[in-house]
Amino acid sequence: MRHPRRAKRTPESRGIVARRFWGAHNVIRSDVLIIGGGVIGLMSGWLLARAGVAATVIDSGMPAATDAAAGMLAPSFEGSLQQGAALAEFSRKSLGRWPALAAALYERSGVDCDFQKGVLSVAFDEGEAAAFEKDHDGGLLLRREEVLALEPALSPRVLGGRFAADDGQVDPRLVRVALARALLNDGGRLLRGKKIVAVHAGENGPARVSTEGGETIEAGHVVIATGARLDGLTRLPPGAVFPVKGEALALGRVAGSPMRVVRTGRAYLCPKADGRVVVGATEIEGDWSLTTDAARIDALRKGACAAFSALSAAPEISRWAGIRPSTRDGAPIIGGAAEAERVIFALGHYRNGVLLAPATADAVVGAVTGEGADPLIAAFSAARFNELGVS
Ligand code: GLY
Repeated sequence: MRHPRRAKRTPESRGIVARRFWGAHNVIRSDVLIIGGGVIGLMSGWLLARAGVAATVIDSGMPAATDAAAGMLAPSFEGSLQQGAALAEFSRKSLGRWPALAAALYERSGVDCDFQKGVLSVAFDEGEAAAFEKDHDGGLLLRREEVLALEPALSPRVLGGRFAADDGQVDPRLVRVALARALLNDGGRLLRGKKIVAVHAGENGPARVSTEGGETIEAGHVVIATGARLDGLTRLPPGAVFPVKGEALALGRVAGSPMRVVRTGRAYLCPKADGRVVVGATEIEGDWSLTTDAARIDALRKGACAAFSALSAAPEISRWAGIRPSTRDGAPIIGGAAEAERVIFALGHYRNGVLLAPATADAVVGAVTGEGADPLIAAFSAARFNELGVS
């Protein structure tokens, strides 16, 4: 069944400059131009298109952090999400959007993005058990027997755990494919392989961006969703966003593999519907390279096997690295740029881009249409970096 569409309002009523995609003289025009074809950019483009806004997503073709992510939707267990009340609430809100969005994505794209519910976090020593009190926010505390009833193949050395029934996972690569198709099916545009080299957004007239190939694109709003790669497109202070490389591997499922997302102190394990068990992840600050280190991957694999010994016999399918876009306080940057009101930031999601994509995209839609603006995003304003003294 198609989703009921909202009544369309006139472009003028939304202050949108051009209700079309292609203008004269080969100047491309769009209501909203989103720079960045990862989960944040595509989700924003898709939700804008569903709201009746002409949205164009530009994907440079550079590796997207989304494709490297394991796809956990686990606010209960991500310590970085619990550092501020606004981020914790924003995370919960975004998690709550995923079940319906996954269903709508399937309907509009025909791609099942492997949405699964339930995340189990387990402790193998007293230190890990203590971390439940410190870092975890939510989930049902379980005794050893209860943990083993959920995951019988888990090492009997387990002391206990926490189970969050509403946390979950998706397959981020499938999400990206689904979003690209849904965007097109709902009337949006996707331009691949174009690198944006400049954004001009003065007070009057539309914003203009230039591609490396010399094209100009005009838009009512420009959304910057480029992850860690700012490439001189913003006036954010240097150091406000920085890379944190993550390495991961995928094992082939064998009998005795986890049945759901399981997090231990040494690794997390995410069993996918396609038969892979994704094991992650390292954290290397400041490293832009996409190479993997054999010793670090080996440590992840050992961590996975310590939890599920059957995985010792599992074939390795692939290993990879990706770049998380982090910020100095671990929270994303979302909302209008102080220096240019037609520019909207949607970046810096660090470890949780997939989880936070729905709420971020909702905020982008709110910023463009002026409807349903989320007061929580005041906490994610770029202005805070000056207050933090980042320069
Ligand atoms: N969200 C898990 C990670 O970034 O490794």
